[in-house]
This record gives sequence, structure tokens and C-alpha cells, in this order.
Amino acid sequence: MTDMENTFTERMARDQALVEDYLRNAFTSEVRHADLQEAMEYSLMAGGKRIRPVLTLETCRLCGGDWRAALPFACAVEMVHTYSLIHDDLPAMDDDGMRRGRPTNHVVYGEATAILAGDALLTAAFGQLARADLPAERIVKAVGCLSHAAGSAGMVGGQSLDMAGEGRALDREELELLQSLKTGALISAAAEMGCIAAGAAPERQAQVRTYAQALGRAFQVRDDMLDVISSPEELGKPVGSDQANEKSTFVTALGLEGCAALVEELTRQAIGALEGFEAPGFHIWLAQTLAQRTK
Ligand code: IPE
Ligand code: IPE
Ligand code: MG
Ligand code: MG
Ligand code: MG
Repeated sequence: MTDMENTFTERMARDQALVEDYLRNAFTSEVRHADLQEAMEYSLMAGGKRIRPVLTLETCRLCGGDWRAALPFACAVEMVHTYSLIHDDLPAMDDDGMRRGRPTNHVVYGEATAILAGDALLTAAFGQLARADLPAERIVKAVGCLSHAAGSAGMVGGQSLDMAGEGRALDREELELLQSLKTGALISAAAEMGCIAAGAAPERQAQVRTYAQALGRAFQVRDDMLDVISSPEELGKPVGSDQANEKSTFVTALGLEGCAALVEELTRQAIGALEGFEAPGFHIWLAQTLAQRTK
């Protein structure tokens, strides 16, 4: 590892630690009803990679903002993401038994509580936005950005296409749309909320969007590959889930080699979008690192 890579690895670890701390305290003051809060924390604190909140913090910093002020935005995105995973694993959807190295939420708490824990995390995310110590106008923009990316025009819309596509061979265009919605939208929102927290110019936000959409697409293509080439021990979730559910993925469309080439191309596109930023080193490193990830 070069000195530069060491520095970025440390920066990532520091950002992740901040996110863990913030999330750990998010529900401590709530009155506890049955096992709902326990179920929420079970999935939220199970040690995901925290790519999305790190992207929010680092993009705020990239745009010259105070990244500490972006923490509520960052953690809101992670709450939406965690809710999406809990619901994605339900028997009615991918029916998976393991997530983040643990039995899935519904396996431990039952389907009703898992559905409710997801609902409550989604709702809490918007409460977090309201709590940010930032100008009201930036908070309003963040609400618009996150609700658009999380809802029917974004992640939920993509999940709906994903379910409707089971058992059918989707063409390249359908796959691109499905994946850019189910995964790209939230990853893009994570980065754009960093711009919003920093009060960045719209042209800068547009560049960040181009970067994050390409990064998000590469991330999902890599996820499809890992479902075939990795192991449950490494991934913390089952492998072979896509095939078992007869999903069309980039692996079924392009094969593993085609996927690797596409991830490389998308990573190049992402990095190319950062021209003109003063210190894009972390974002470049992140794109390169995620392209090679094994979990
Ligand atoms: C998994 O996301 C679901 C996808 C959108 C591919 P991550 O790979 O970021 O999962 P965690 O947060 O690290 O568990
Ligand atoms: C789901 O994609 C993306 C979400 C919006 C949760 P996958 O179904 O491929 O995610 P994993 O592989 O279960 O994490
Ligand atoms: Mg799924
Ligand atoms: Mg799944
Ligand atoms: Mg997957």
C-alpha cells in the first residue's frame, strides 16, 4: 500500500467510526415498545460497510463544507439503506436468511416486526434530516433529494422492477434502469446530500451526481458478481440468491468477464466526472477500491 492509500484507508475508518457513534445514539432516548427498537438496532448496528454515509461526509468535505454538520444527513441515508435491506430479505422479496453476517431481521424477530422496523427506520431518517444544524433551506433540499431517491422514482421503484423481472430475461436497457434505480439512486443521493450540506454550486452537484451514478452502477454490477464468485463467510450474506430467485443480473447478461470490464469502464467514467475539484483524491481512491471489493 502506498502512503496515500494508507491515508485514505485511515480516513475511511475514521468516517465509519463517526457514523457508528452517531447511529449508536440515535434511538437511545426513545421509549421502547415490545421489540421494535431492538429489531431496528439489530440491523442498523450489524456493521455494514457504511459506504453511503461516508460518501455524504466526504462529498461535503470535497465541496468545502463542514463535514461534521453533514452527519445527520449521512446517517439518514444509512437508515433508509438499512430499511431497504430488511425489506429486501423478506420472504415476499429475496427470502434470504443472512445479512451483515447475522440471521436476517425477520428470522430473528418475525416478519411483522421486520416490516415495522423497516418502516420505522425510513421514518426516522427524515426526522434526522430535520435535526441537522444547517440552514433550513439546505434541510428542505435534502428532504426533496432523499425522498425522491428512496421512493417510487428511485430505490422502491427499482425494487419493484426487480421483483417484476423475476423468472424473465431482461434486456440490457431494462437492467440498466432497474439497477440505476434500486442502487444508483440512493448512492447518488448520499453524495448529493454532501453537496447540499456544504451549500455547493449546482454545477458542482451535477458533477457529483455523474460521479455517484456511475459509482452506484459499478457497485451493483460488482454486487451481482459477488453473488456468484464470493462466499457467505466473506460477504456476510448468502451467495447464489440471484440465481435461486431467477433474477436477471449483469452476470446473466454479460458474463463475469463482461461485468469486470463494465465495472472498470464505469469506474473510469466516475473518476472522469471529478475534473475541476481541488482535492478529489479520496473519491478517486473510493471508486477504485469499490471496483475491486470482495465484500
Ligand atoms: C447491499 O449494499 C445492497 C446493494 C445495494 C447492493 P451494501 O453492499 O452497501 O451493504 P452493506 O451496507 O455493506 O451491508
Ligand atoms: C437490493 O439488491 C438493493 C436494495 C435496494 C436493497 P440485492 O437484492 O442484489 O441486494 P443484496 O445482494 O440482497 O444485498
Ligand atoms: Mg433484491
Ligand atoms: Mg437481496
Ligand atoms: Mg445482490
